[in-house]
Amino acid sequence: MNKVDNFRLKFSNDNREFVPIMIGGMGVDISTSQLALEAARLGGIGHISDALVTDVSDRKFGTKFVSTKRQEFKESLNSIDKSRISFQEHDIREAMKLHVAKTMEAKRGDGLVFVNCMEKLTMNSPKDTLQYRLNAALDAGIDGITLSAGLHLNSMALMQENKRFHDAKIGIIVSSVRALKPFLQRAKRSNRMPDYIVVEGPLAGGHLGFALENWKEFTLAMIFSEVKQYLADNNLNIPVIPAGGIFTGSDAAAYLANGAGAVQVATRFTVTTECGLPEKVKQDYFRANEEDVEVNTSSPTGYPMRMLSYSPSLGSKIKPNCEALGYLLENGTCSYIDAYEKAKVECSAAGKPLAVYEKTCLCTHMQLFQCYTCGHYVYRLKDTTNKLADGSYQTLSAEHVFLDYQYSTDNKIALPQL
Ligand SMILES: Cc1cc2nc3c(=O)[nH]c(=O)nc-3n(C[C@H](O)[C@H](O)[C@H](O)COP(=O)(O)O)c2cc1C
Repeated sequence: MNKVDNFRLKFSNDNREFVPIMIGGMGVDISTSQLALEAARLGGIGHISDALVTDVSDRKFGTKFVSTKRQEFKESLNSIDKSRISFQEHDIREAMKLHVAKTMEAKRGDGLVFVNCMEKLTMNSPKDTLQYRLNAALDAGIDGITLSAGLHLNSMALMQENKRFHDAKIGIIVSSVRALKPFLQRAKRSNRMPDYIVVEGPLAGGHLGFALENWKEFTLAMIFSEVKQYLADNNLNIPVIPAGGIFTGSDAAAYLANGAGAVQVATRFTVTTECGLPEKVKQDYFRANEEDVEVNTSSPTGYPMRMLSYSPSLGSKIKPNCEALGYLLENGTCSYIDAYEKAKVECSAAGKPLAVYEKTCLCTHMQLFQCYTCGHYVYRLKDTTNKLADGSYQTLSAEHVFLDYQYSTDNKIALPQL
């Protein structure tokens, strides 16, 4: 009978074998170090994320990066022009060093810990920001980097002087052959192909690599086989890792039997003790019904994003927080600032309290765990655990979910012990 444990993930030029389960990166600190470390301890691959790393460092290590930056750029607090705000190269480096190095020091077991790097987080200086983030992660000893959302064609070149360029694993997330092709062509120039390719389908959580109008026309199975075919046609032997809507061990085993190197999963781990979401939010995920799940354009990145319709980030009135965070600033602007200003005028003219629906301040809402992004099957989470006497759901351990993916058969999901 097919199960995930019948397979192992292997990278080229590497003799090691891994349990073919990768827990996807979930920023901001939803995929915590503890969650990633559990995956590694169990022989698989976990991700931390470098999104808002200064804030993560402040919370975990008591640094003061965010408040210091806010103070430094306070002149623009009441202005819509945020062009003076710049990223703090030293702070990013230090925060990365703390977040990554401390995680790697705590690693046990035969698995790996990677960092998810959303390339769209531009901080008013796309190339420099990226170069610092990527190299700081390598210097701090990360096992691998997964490049996602808004792939920068020069990413490989930005790391090629780093002494760990060939030793760390470097992978990318794509949702089409169209996005894959130019990246591979450019990577050739740095003489460095990615070590793995995550193919993310339209049922994933977080941002989607599809247009709002037509994401329903695609399936993960379809894109997975297109990417496999493209690599075969070009004699490229790179593990392909499907992601998005792989909910049971049997779903995963079917992809592995079809030639996947591993699977990337996330939503089932959002309700584990090790996940960074506050307990209340985990319960909000558990109680989701199918009709509560929506794909919308509230993210200022420009990519559609899947979230729960009762996500507190929707229709909020939070003031742009670019001085403190400012991860999405491009040339001093962010589409949330425009939406906020527009809503102020419209709501005031209509005599209504301020509520911004068009866009959301993703930095602030992700920082506060108020953007309830999730995979399509979030509404099945309640079937993966026990309902307790007080009406709440039992939180799971990451180990339980990981082992359920690894050993389950016949689409069964093992419930945790009460
Ligand atoms: C809460 C949450 C946050 C996510 N954040 C990110 C992120 O920061 N970067 C990223 O590349 N993918 C992100 N994703 C996508 C996952 O890493 C993963 O590829 C996808 O959700 C897998 O599908 P599944 O959730 O159906 O298992 C996120 C997913 C979830 C559920």
